[in-house]
Amino acid sequence: MSDDRLITALDLPNVLDGLELAKTLGDSVNFYKIGLGMLTGGGLALANELKQEFGKRIFLDMKFFDIPATVEAAVRGVAQFNLDFLTVHGDPHVVRAAREGAGGSDMKILAVTILTSLDRDDLDASLIKDGKIADLVMERAAKALNAGADGVIASPQEAAMIRALPEAHGKLIVTPGVRPAGAAHGDQKRVATPAQAIKDGADHIVVGRPIWQSDDPKAAAKAILAELRG
Ligand code: C5P
Repeated sequence: MSDDRLITALDLPNVLDGLELAKTLGDSVNFYKIGLGMLTGGGLALANELKQEFGKRIFLDMKFFDIPATVEAAVRGVAQFNLDFLTVHGDPHVVRAAREGAGGSDMKILAVTILTSLDRDDLDASLIKDGKIADLVMERAAKALNAGADGVIASPQEAAMIRALPEAHGKLIVTPGVRPAGAAHGDQKRVATPAQAIKDGADHIVVGRPIWQSDDPKAAAKAILAELRG
């Protein structure tokens, strides 16, 4: 049995490999994330195929950021495909424009607060105001949710703090940076296990390499699902 709390990141080099993996995973995975890396290689077509022909749910991770008119137009374009989640940067003007573009569609707009690859030096270089990153993440999450985001993307370390925000009541928290016990961390520095991320308030976890780089992706996915069910 699949469980929509697990979102598998299809970060494969091309859509054929992505489709092959989805076929291998079969019924064990019901929700896929497709990101910018696959966009020029047919990522949107793969998203549609998985949605329309295989009945999968799709998280399109585009992290849009632009002037409001452009964000609105881009989101309106995506909304016609009936996908499930779409990311934009959590700046209030971007979120408001995305909301307009999403119109009456069921597609959820998820806000990125501060990319987990950035440290304080990077924020200084980008002229982002002083303060601890965790505090800025909370502030940006609250602003994005107030601006109409359906949820936020958060590292597992941030999930519990965001869940405690009044603004997060009834909103989605989606958490990458998840590693089953014993799995390689790769470049993820701040990780949590699937069970811990859910316990801390995540509604969905995003897992990529521990599944698609596994010798037995289906068994890897099933092990994560078993852990989620406790
Ligand atoms: O392979 P892994 O499980 O690390 O993949 C996690 C996925 O989540 C990747 O697609 C990555 O781009 C994405 N992601 C992330 N950290 C963020 C935002 C997105 O790892 N802060």
